Amino acid sequence: MDLSNYLLTGQPYYHPVGNEVALFEAAYAARLPMMLKGPTGCGKTRFIEHMAWRLGKPLITVACHEDMTASDLVGRFLLDAEGTVWHDGPLTLSVRHGAICYLDEIVEARQDTTVVIHPLTDDRRILPLEKKNELVRAHPDFQIVISYNPGYQSVIKDLKESTKQRFAALDFSYPEASIETEIVAHESGIAHEDAAVLVRIAGRTRNLKGHGLDEGASTRMLVQAGRLMSRSIPLREACEVAIVLPISDDPDMRRALTETIAACV
Ligand SMILES: Nc1ncnc2c1ncn2[C@@H]1O[C@H](COP(=O)(O)OP(=O)(O)OP(=O)(O)O)[C@@H](O)[C@H]1O
Ligand SMILES: [Mg+2]
Repeated sequence: MDLSNYLLTGQPYYHPVGNEVALFEAAYAARLPMMLKGPTGCGKTRFIEHMAWRLGKPLITVACHEDMTASDLVGRFLLDAEGTVWHDGPLTLSVRHGAICYLDEIVEARQDTTVVIHPLTDDRRILPLEKKNELVRAHPDFQIVISYNPGYQSVIKDLKESTKQRFAALDFSYPEASIETEIVAHESGIAHEDAAVLVRIAGRTRNLKGHGLDEGASTRMLVQAGRLMSRSIPLREACEVAIVLPISDDPDMRRALTETIAACV
């Protein structure tokens, strides 16, 4: 089986915010299961893509959701012209052939699904395929990485303690202003000064977290506003479309955000 489709060809741009690159390299060398924690749009997915590229390993990503079953991860028998044939799921593919398996938004999956990763994430590093009566030993290059947005989950959606405690974690948050400016300018192609204004606006919205907003504007939102600006949309309009309208439905909050933006320009 050839996983070359899953190798990243170009270097994904990632601006480090601390020593996360060195920490992840050490974690990979030790094959520790890793958890990337942080709010939406702060760079977790970009980071794992960058790291897979740096390490030269294929990256298989699974977007977890409520209806996902263990079979969606490990595989199933399917009927074809020759009869029933086993098809490896994304987790089994990664385990057999040595990819980094990234389970995005792991808490969305039901707990009876997530337990299939348990024997893989302790020192056994095995994946039992019960339906197939096979025990797959993890390829030496295999690593499991999960993402987790703390704070969004209800108690029923939290990870089991026995799942959590199998992972080492890196905490992500929105980068400090100078780095975030650099990222927004690079990703959207706008001038540094304009990116700096967007970052200032984001700072104000993040202060409203818990005061009418569930979450402030993410780095992703700033990049999107910047992309509109690079296509000649004026800053205030770009912010309205990319930040104010998506982030709140409440007319008073929208008005407050629009005024905040006007004050930052
Ligand atoms: N440190 C960074 N270096 C480069 N780009 C970044 C960085 N942080 C954020 N970005 C930019 O922000 C965008 C959103 O980041 P990303 O998709 O990685 O967020 P995420 O943390 O995975 O969010 P979610 O939890 O919603 O999946 C990226 O596409 C990239 O443009
Ligand atoms: Mg992501």
